[in-house]
Amino acid sequence: MATIVLALGGSLLRPEVEERHAWLEELVSIIRDRVLVDDRIGIVVGGGAPAREGITLARPIIDNEDRLDRIGIAATRLNATIVRESLADAGVTVSGAIPRSINEATMLFDERPVVVMGGTKPGHTTDAVAIRLAIASGAERCIIGTNVDRVYDSDPRDNPNTNGHDSLTHEELQEIVGPAEHTKAGPSGVVDPMGVADATKANLTLCILDGRDHSRIKSAIEGESFHGTIVESEEEE
Ligand code: UTP
Repeated sequence: MATIVLALGGSLLRPEVEERHAWLEELVSIIRDRVLVDDRIGIVVGGGAPAREGITLARPIIDNEDRLDRIGIAATRLNATIVRESLADAGVTVSGAIPRSINEATMLFDERPVVVMGGTKPGHTTDAVAIRLAIASGAERCIIGTNVDRVYDSDPRDNPNTNGHDSLTHEELQEIVGPAEHTKAGPSGVVDPMGVADATKANLTLCILDGRDHSRIKSAIEGESFHGTIVESEEEE
């Protein structure tokens, strides 16, 4: 039995794609198969479009990052509810309520093999929540499903010649994402630097991949090699 935590960037539940329910359906099927082999899966869902929309609407009138973060958190819980209800409808034994803290989530793992949550409190993103849930629940690794195929030295949308990485140490990833601080509510880099700092301390393996391709999520959950970036400490390489 393995415990795996999966962070799903909210952009994966993207509104601009036709038939996007097919992605969700495929995700449900991957999770159902893992439960059948007795894995425990924690899923932490990001805020995506509703978070962006809510924060953009309120930013001109709210001059307080914690308040804007709370709008983002509400969006993550909306998206987590979509994933939770889809799993429950497919017969997967998933936790009932959306937990509001890491503690609550780890306790739910004692009752159900699948726990779905969104954000917890202001000051970080759901990547950091996923990494903390992985550490607290003794997970083998944390998979970060995002919308780029791997970690690059800089944003490939701004710099097409940037260098991509199949593997990195925690220190190298921290160097790329920057110091562990939360500056502003809303969109951030490839992985939350606060989460990277926690993963480094706990020596937690991270698998960073393009979550739009469910076969990559499946390979990483199953512990197979995957297209993306694996982050491990030097000793393990
Ligand atoms: P996300 O985790 O979706 O962050 O949370 P993100 O980096 O903006 O988006 P992705 O990774 O592309 O999906 C949305 C916002 O909600 C707040 C932050 O403002 C974050 O930017 N948030 C989320 C918190 O304050 N605390 C949390 O635990 C989670």
